[in-house]
Amino acid sequence: MFEQELHALREKNLLRRLKVSGAMDGIRATLDGRLYRLFCTNDYLGLSGHTEVRAAAKAAIDGAGTGAGSAPLISGYTSYHQRLADDIARFKGAEAGLLFGSGYVANTSIIPALAGAGDAVFSDELNHASIVVGCRLSRADKFIYRHRDMDSLEALLKADRPRAMRFIVTEGVFSMDGDVAPMPDIMVLARRYNATVILDDAHGTGVLGCTGRGTLEHYGLPADNVIQVGTLGKALGSYGAFAAASPDVIDWLVNGARGFMFSTSLPASVCAAASASLAVIGREPERLVTLRRNAGLLRDGLRGLGFTVLGEDTPIVPLVVGDAGHALALSAALMDAGFYAPAIRPPTVPEGGSRVRFTVSALHTEEDIRELVESVRRAIR
Ligand SMILES: Cc1ncc(COP(=O)(O)O)c(C=O)c1O
Repeated sequence: MFEQELHALREKNLLRRLKVSGAMDGIRATLDGRLYRLFCTNDYLGLSGHTEVRAAAKAAIDGAGTGAGSAPLISGYTSYHQRLADDIARFKGAEAGLLFGSGYVANTSIIPALAGAGDAVFSDELNHASIVVGCRLSRADKFIYRHRDMDSLEALLKADRPRAMRFIVTEGVFSMDGDVAPMPDIMVLARRYNATVILDDAHGTGVLGCTGRGTLEHYGLPADNVIQVGTLGKALGSYGAFAAASPDVIDWLVNGARGFMFSTSLPASVCAAASASLAVIGREPERLVTLRRNAGLLRDGLRGLGFTVLGEDTPIVPLVVGDAGHALALSAALMDAGFYAPAIRPPTVPEGGSRVRFTVSALHTEEDIRELVESVRRAIR
């Protein structure tokens, strides 16, 4: 079954394989028995291994067990969940918060809960797969605008017919390009065309803004009229996801987001870990400073080699090589040198846009970055 299809994927250099990784410490792991320096994790601040974060998770297991036992509307919503929802709301400058099983579940539940038949959703062409699926599941009319292109978005909004509800959905930091959505312009268009903005800040949360609150803080924008979504599984070093919005929107999601209503609640331990991470982010701003220094060093280093490197101001540093085979070859050469940064190929990125996507962490040293750049230089000689 599926032999031919799998063979065709292999022929096109598009077959994906799982690798078993061990001994993770945020920036190092063994893969198939060999130790690698990782330039691929989204644990941007190195919090998944932070002593305090681990201790909070362990204490929550001792206090509440390993599993929540039921959906949040039954008995799965504990004081750990409530505390994290409040912490998230405060961190995001919103009035209320809600937790979801993962970012994927959040987007595929929130968008269909908010937008229905007769409504319209305007979505950036590079939005994450979970947003694409969320838009499909909603029965709203879908309009895809060119990546970060406000003329393209405005043309679609202008040509649209009158609607009860219109949504603009965008990532804050784009996961494969490492660039940032032009939120001030999006907010202007949202006001002009009476649309509500859904901002998936999966890669901005904990990363952008002077205190790590995300893309809105990066631009100095208030959280009003924005439904913020994000994952707990990246810079917060835990697992799960959240929405942060007005109390009415959150109440509506409690009553209509099917991935929230009909799925077992997060374990208390992951909530406790995420709450502890938020406290650490507030207390250890130097992590953010180091993360930015590392991202700048890597971008400058790769650009110094003559590469086109996408994005700015973010720890996602994509080196686009075009062909899937070339991306695999560069990634393999880096593995030989002891670095792991996987090749990203279609359908994750458009045809001809294959790349090695590096992500940096606050735990990397300057030496890690310098040695990586040197290995890229050797690999392309
Ligand atoms: C922009 C974006 N949204 C959502 C997700 C999904 O989040 P999670 O990993 O928590 O399912 C990701 C992660 O890969 C992402 O990059």
